[in-house]
Amino acid sequence: MRLLGIETSCDDTAAAVVVDGRTALSNVLASQDEFHREYGGIVPEIASRKHAETLNFVIRHALAAAGCSLRDLDGIAVTCGPGLPGSLVVGVAAAQALAWSLDLPVYAVNHLHGHLFANYLAPAGAEPVQPPQAPFVCLVVSGGHTDLIHVEAPDRHRVIGRTVDDAAGEAFDKVARLLGLGFPGGPAIDRLARQGNPHAFDFPRGLAGDGSFNFSFSGLKTAVRYFLDAHPEARVDRAADVAASFQAAVVDALCEKTIGAARRLGLRGIALAGGVAANAALRRELRDRAASYGIAVHMPALAYCTDNAAMIAAAAYYRGDRARVRPDDLRVDPNFAW
Ligand code: KG4
Ligand code: ZN
Repeated sequence: MRLLGIETSCDDTAAAVVVDGRTALSNVLASQDEFHREYGGIVPEIASRKHAETLNFVIRHALAAAGCSLRDLDGIAVTCGPGLPGSLVVGVAAAQALAWSLDLPVYAVNHLHGHLFANYLAPAGAEPVQPPQAPFVCLVVSGGHTDLIHVEAPDRHRVIGRTVDDAAGEAFDKVARLLGLGFPGGPAIDRLARQGNPHAFDFPRGLAGDGSFNFSFSGLKTAVRYFLDAHPEARVDRAADVAASFQAAVVDALCEKTIGAARRLGLRGIALAGGVAANAALRRELRDRAASYGIAVHMPALAYCTDNAAMIAAAAYYRGDRARVRPDDLRVDPNFAW
């Protein structure tokens, strides 16, 4: 089953062709970073306008890279939420038009399901991945979400924890801004932290040891801000140590709660998902710490961690009839819940 995935929930315009939810024949992405950088964050009005200008080109490119045409498709999968309403509507309108004109089934996909099902993907020509075996715990860490999910079956998800304030990616972006590292901040902190000492400063681990599976990152961000206000010179001569110590606090909190949840629920597997899952320290620490409890960690290849359309097509395949809608009924749902 060959699905065209379309993803425009935030600031990346993406399209992909995926076979049977597992093999990405193509995965094309047009980044808008250069248009938002000067504002230090995403400007929704610019995002939706750029999606409208770029999406047709990105879809054509995804089809060409997959070596197929619109006539070879078995369905259209599109992100309906959560996300920016004006951005979502561009992808949804395109999917609706394609489904109508080609008389194809259309799948309304939750962006968060997409991140989870990124764990099932491999590019064409590579070994198919061995997907995580349910039941397992999935940590979805992105710019908008930090959710801990009990995946009872591939298609049965229960939210067991979430951030009570900022998302982990949001904290990365805000601290990067404090350090003058630009946008998006996560990859910049990831790079800079490699030259720093993660034990240089002791920043707070929000909600550590509170017995819940929830997270909090706004106190950490504020602690970094107060520290930099008190030591302005650290922005220049200790930036790598600040980045590494901040990152260590985030990674520590994420690993503690995720491994704690797996152990308390008696689960042998953990999956990682979302843009922050691309973070090198998180990938290393989670794998190492979980291994000491005999828990296996599954994580998507880097290209499938940050927003992409292959994961949307994968989620549509696994959700099947539960995601299928009539083209007329396709709607944007900016607050689409798990
Ligand atoms: O999943 P995603 O691409 O978009 C959302 O659904 O939000 O996640 C974007 C977030 C941003 O906050 C970005 O700074 C963060 O993921 N991010 C990272 C890394 N790459 C992206 N954070 C830490 N380390 C990275 N390598
Ligand atoms: Zn995302």
